[in-house]
Amino acid sequence: MTSHISLTRYLIEQQREAGKIPAQLRLLLEVVARACKRISLTVNKGALGSVLGSAGSENVQGEVQKKLDIIANEVLIEANEWGGHLAAMASEEMDAIYVVPNRFPKGEYLLLFDPLDGSSNIDVNVSIGTIFSVLKMPEDDRGVDEGDFLQPGRQQVAAGYCIYGPQTVLVLTVGDGVAMFTLDREQGSFVLTEEKLRIPEDTKEFAINMSNMRHWAPPVRRYIDECLQGKDGPRGKDFNMRWVASMVADVHRILVRGGIFMYPWDKREPNKPGKLRLMYEANPMAWLVEQAGGAATNGQQRILDIQPSQLHERVSVILGSKNEVERVTSYHTAL
Ligand code: AHG
Ligand code: MN
Ligand code: MN
Ligand code: MN
Repeated sequence: MTSHISLTRYLIEQQREAGKIPAQLRLLLEVVARACKRISLTVNKGALGSVLGSAGSENVQGEVQKKLDIIANEVLIEANEWGGHLAAMASEEMDAIYVVPNRFPKGEYLLLFDPLDGSSNIDVNVSIGTIFSVLKMPEDDRGVDEGDFLQPGRQQVAAGYCIYGPQTVLVLTVGDGVAMFTLDREQGSFVLTEEKLRIPEDTKEFAINMSNMRHWAPPVRRYIDECLQGKDGPRGKDFNMRWVASMVADVHRILVRGGIFMYPWDKREPNKPGKLRLMYEANPMAWLVEQAGGAATNGQQRILDIQPSQLHERVSVILGSKNEVERVTSYHTAL
């Protein structure tokens, strides 16, 4: 393990070395990390903190909100609204963008987040997390509106997640590889425990919700059928399957030991490309995976090249070990 380098020191070194990140971005990332620490403490209370169960409301996605969806959202808003580094925020749990009160000079960044990913796992004590993405505010003298957020994922200046599991781990990229920081609860600080992560280009482990099999398009059916045939089939090797139903947990496993994750188009909702949201789930995860040597497509193109048209738009996601993602994508483009 790298000698006890704190997140603060790591970010200062990223800022100092060839100006990889400006001071305002470093401050923003420190604020987001502190907010994730607060969310982790709240998550860990569970039934003791009356934070479990449904909030009885619905979000813009048409999902019933859990209490922790709303609590995590409020923690991130409150932590970020006074620092002066943000122009506005967008969240899975908010219909419209949140423009930071203009009592400061307009901040130069836009923060997008999924405050609580894996909500269906909250009440059953399975790993969940927070996903975040940072974009630059377009330089102009007009106010900030939703259109400023509609930038392709390759424009991100920082992306990451915090997974609330047996350990609380913050995973981050600012374009110089992927680093992992484990929360030291005694000190209350995130400590660098991995950096320059590399995803193996091949894998024997796929992650997909198999109960949707009959609804998939042919290329996905073909890929999974070949995996299920194991060493007697065209792949010549047996595969294992994992599905946590928290994207943060499935992606974390892939960053640590490889694998392929898929949430593909499904004929039950033919007009939706998939379940997952582009701006605050697929884009940050796609950049992390690419920064670790993996690949991320929607079956047709690189996720980071998709030009968004709506803040909450959905996307089909295939990401992870490069050679596997390229194989599935080739089955789509071969059609
Ligand atoms: P969220 O809890 O933020 O709405 O996201 C849940 C997502 C993602 O985390 C996970 O991969 C997927 O939903 C699981 O979907 P199924 O429950 O359909 O398997
Ligand atoms: Mn949700
Ligand atoms: Mn999510
Ligand atoms: Mn969520």
